[in-house]
Amino acid sequence: MQRTGFSACALAFALSMSGLGTCAAQGTAAPAADDVDARIAALPPGPDTEAIKLGRKITMETPQFAAGHVPGGAMSCASCHIGGGTTPLSSPWIGMTGVSPAYSARSATVESLAQRINNCFQRSENGIPLAFDSREMNALLAYMTYLSRGIPGGQFGPGRGMGKIADAALVPDPVHGRAIYADKCASCHGANGEGVHSGGSYAIPPLWGDASYNIGASMARLGPAAGFIKNNMPLGNATLSDQDAVDVAAYVTQQPRPDYAAKVKDWPKGGRPADARY
Ligand code: HEC
Ligand code: HEC
Repeated sequence: MQRTGFSACALAFALSMSGLGTCAAQGTAAPAADDVDARIAALPPGPDTEAIKLGRKITMETPQFAAGHVPGGAMSCASCHIGGGTTPLSSPWIGMTGVSPAYSARSATVESLAQRINNCFQRSENGIPLAFDSREMNALLAYMTYLSRGIPGGQFGPGRGMGKIADAALVPDPVHGRAIYADKCASCHGANGEGVHSGGSYAIPPLWGDASYNIGASMARLGPAAGFIKNNMPLGNATLSDQDAVDVAAYVTQQPRPDYAAKVKDWPKGGRPADARY
């Protein structure tokens, strides 16, 4: 599904009205989500622009353009990075190149941006990592570098991450979450979280089951899932209360999904978050 998402600044403004975010990058060269395709189309022709275009395609349609790396064929980067890394509080990438490499407690190493990308291939896509010198990896790096233009090194565009639920003391109720799921999510994601598969690709990504992200993915944790759902779902009408977002995230994250064998190597020096599934 080709989807360009919302205007980054319009969405950030809407969120700031509810006290959730600001549009820090307004007035910089950071592209708004809904004109990214137009801006990329207007770049001067040449190999660098071709790489940026391919990175955009891989992001929007990962199973097709990183063929062989997403055996489940269900998830694109843009399934979670809405608008293709341009939407605040949907883990945007505007500024990503200026904050990489960076230390990760999960691996207890300083990770390059290419390693960070492969984390999402192996966990969020339940897939196979790209070779560091591959055309696809360099295309994703070129695209993220393009998105980061105009953001000073060490800074980030608006709404990094998925957003947090302000009241960390809310107690999740997965039984209530199941009712919310049936009421507000199943119409798109299916009664069994299976998503919608049509014409050889997924129009709506699955939320659990064999084709979904594995338990090593951040989206399998209650905190990131609740933040993402609160700020982005139901798609185009993200109006859940904090409690409802926590409840439905608890229900979704507790459903079966693929295992991740390399999980035994995670957090070797401590720092494991309490909501990790293992
Ligand atoms: C199942 C959802 C999901 C999918 C699919 C997914 N990601 Fe992610 N990604 C996440 C989550 C969750 C985070 C962590 C966000 C946070 O730190 O709050 C993340 C973080 C990242 C980051 C670091 C962002 C930051 O601010 O540090 C990059 C880069 C990234 N992903 C790239 C990719 C790429 C490239 C793809 C496609 C190959 C992809 N992701 C697919 C969920 C996903
Ligand atoms: C109108 C259809 C629609 C509704 C309703 C909806 N979603 Fe989504 N959801 C999507 C689409 C489409 C995506 C992929 C993002 C994109 O294409 O922009 C997505 C992505 C997601 C993702 C990240 C990707 C993945 O597969 O895990 C989660 C988690 C999610 N939705 C949870 C929910 C929850 C929970 C609800 C109910 C509160 C909900 N959604 C309601 C359409 C919908």
